[in-house]
Amino acid sequence: MKVARFSKMGFILAAAGSAVGLGNIWKFPYIAGEYGGGAFVLVYLLTVLLIGFSIMIAEMLIGYLGRKDTVTSFEELAPTHKGRWKFAGFQSLAGLFIMIFYSVVIGWIFNYIVTSVTTLPSSVKEAETTFNAMLHTGFKTQLFYHTAAFIWITYVLTKGIKGGIEKMNFILMPALMVILGGMFIYATTLDTFHQAVEFMFYPDWSKINSTAFVVAVGHAFFTLSLGMGAIMTYSASMEKGSNLVKNAFWVVFLDTTIAIVAGLMLFTFLYQYGSGPAKGPGLVFISLPAAFYEMGVLGNIFAVLFFIALAFAGLTSSVSLVEPMVQYFIDRFGWSRLKASISMGTFFWFFGIFAILSNVDGYKEFLTWGSKSFFDWVDYVTAAIMLPLGGLAMAIFVGFAMDKSKVESIMRPQLKWAFDIWYFSLRYITPVAMFVVILSLMGII
Ligand code: TRP
Repeated sequence: MKVARFSKMGFILAAAGSAVGLGNIWKFPYIAGEYGGGAFVLVYLLTVLLIGFSIMIAEMLIGYLGRKDTVTSFEELAPTHKGRWKFAGFQSLAGLFIMIFYSVVIGWIFNYIVTSVTTLPSSVKEAETTFNAMLHTGFKTQLFYHTAAFIWITYVLTKGIKGGIEKMNFILMPALMVILGGMFIYATTLDTFHQAVEFMFYPDWSKINSTAFVVAVGHAFFTLSLGMGAIMTYSASMEKGSNLVKNAFWVVFLDTTIAIVAGLMLFTFLYQYGSGPAKGPGLVFISLPAAFYEMGVLGNIFAVLFFIALAFAGLTSSVSLVEPMVQYFIDRFGWSRLKASISMGTFFWFFGIFAILSNVDGYKEFLTWGSKSFFDWVDYVTAAIMLPLGGLAMAIFVGFAMDKSKVESIMRPQLKWAFDIWYFSLRYITPVAMFVVILSLMGII
């Protein structure tokens, strides 16, 4: 008996809230830095347009027609082999797995909001020491803030689609845009802004290799929240008669704009006050706080606001990572929302503790296999393997398994002449690209 639906604006904000996450503000700038800026950014933009946008529409279509949890939607929409297609829906487990480290990172951000009020590191070296101390010895701190993130996310989920998810996105998404927009405008007044623009948009094609290409495709998936049924689950609560193409356009547009705005702003600050476009995951936790330090009190204010925006981005994404499994237990097992939310929350909270421990001295030895800690394994298996596989399944499902006449009757009026391009992309371009990404990330090619 699920009647709660998103409003039009509510859906776009919630789906954009899912897409705009740590991927945009934490990951995108540092991988753009790692792969040399401009050329990488162009490849990423092309991937978003050619592949991301197509799969976004496909994923929305499955949810919108299925109207149920991901497993049931696949099962009901499959014309044949229902029992087998159902398993594509279990892809939603990837969301819970992602949460195992995502929630820990949100915990770090909470910690940085609190400490940035009074203290910023006076050098990159000091910033590095502080960050490593938290990572390798700060078990209690990490556990405390990870638990805070768990409570926040679980609470919102218990309140449901309207009173929880939509409401939170209505508040946090505009707040995030105002904070980032304000800091961006400030950045445009600095002398180094043009250096950041050059870095992000001037393509140096010699820096592009097949790894950069694969990373760009993988990131396009992660940042658009594709491949695990987050967008699908939200789309099950979309208003009837919605225009999927318009919705998908807004989500892709907001996600991409916010990634670029955040990147330009961060690089301007790093050129102006720091050490230039720093590389690696430490960018926002190490290089950036050291750059803010150089700005004096304004730096403290900016740091706190920045980490608040980052936390908001992470929290709105988190609920979308857990909601598919919550929905699954409600629809398939008749659980109450309260029971489903608390159970799923407890799952990622519990395994999150091991993700923390896998970086902590004295424990990490027991939680590292091969060259990767448990934390890194979860990141790798979900982003590198599960999401591309999920995307592949969705493209094949809409492109081949579903009745073409059914798909066409809904999508041609919305896509018009672009319908054939979209359908072709789902059938051929996307599967081939996904396949290449999976093989290459698994080290096979
Ligand atoms: N898109 C989010 C980010 O950029 C992460 C995310 C939320 C996600 N929901 C998802 C990734 C579903 C993959 C699938 O941080």
